[in-house]
Amino acid sequence: MQIVRQLDPLRDALAEFRKAGLKIGLVPTMGALHAGHMRLVEMAREQCDAVVASIFVNPTQFGEGEDLDAYPRQEAADAALLEAAGVELLWAPTPDQIYPSGYATKISVAGISDGLCGAARPGHFDGVATVVAKLFNQIRPDAAFFGEKDYQQLAIIRRMARDLDFTHDIVGVPTVRDPDGLALSSRNAYLTEAQRADAVALPQAMQGAARAIAGGGDVATILADAKERMLAAGFRKIDYLELRNADTLAVLDDFIEPARLFVAAHMGHTRLIDNIPVS
Ligand code: PAF
Repeated sequence: MQIVRQLDPLRDALAEFRKAGLKIGLVPTMGALHAGHMRLVEMAREQCDAVVASIFVNPTQFGEGEDLDAYPRQEAADAALLEAAGVELLWAPTPDQIYPSGYATKISVAGISDGLCGAARPGHFDGVATVVAKLFNQIRPDAAFFGEKDYQQLAIIRRMARDLDFTHDIVGVPTVRDPDGLALSSRNAYLTEAQRADAVALPQAMQGAARAIAGGGDVATILADAKERMLAAGFRKIDYLELRNADTLAVLDDFIEPARLFVAAHMGHTRLIDNIPVS
């Protein structure tokens, strides 16, 4: 696996892939890779001929009080995982290759970035959209792979790609879960053993609510009950538990497909997010 940090050698390597007629798949990450990321790589390998993974801890998606310096950096371990998984090229740019001196442009995907996690993290999705657009232009992939675990991010990237005429496929990859249903996340490592055991209440409450909503129950009542169950199980605070349109992310007061349930809740100091389809 080639590890490339500068744009000129990146372009040379990509030109070789294109000359050989290879379909290029991009898996953008910020490193600290877990099985959820590796599933993205697996999907990219299934659908493409050459997989490019990127690792860049993007400063513009961190807000006030979110500790960019404390974000885990383990490039050697990540590179070993990617190489073993068959990735052809790791794009690990130096910061100036993404944000050169004098950089002044920002991409903001209005509306869809505002609610859910956007409400608690102002500016976060502008940083995500901006860096992803940069990566799309730098790599010019045939397909790019993102986890459905960060569904709002995926919806924003799809909207941005449509709005800015990126024509490659944006592939959403289903969330990888532990056997008890908790979605994999690097944040799960912050949970104590007892908190980890209690956290199963989140997927359970979500699945119960999704079944009840699909069965025709009153949405507001079902969501209120699910929140109560999560609080009773040990969650400290629930930022949101909402039914939304799966494409536009508009809030749904009644069940109309395509619909999805979204949740963000705090177990101790750890904020967990998840989402599932309702059908
Ligand atoms: O999901 C992530 O890891 C990041 O938000 C992404 C898409 C790599 C952009 O920095």
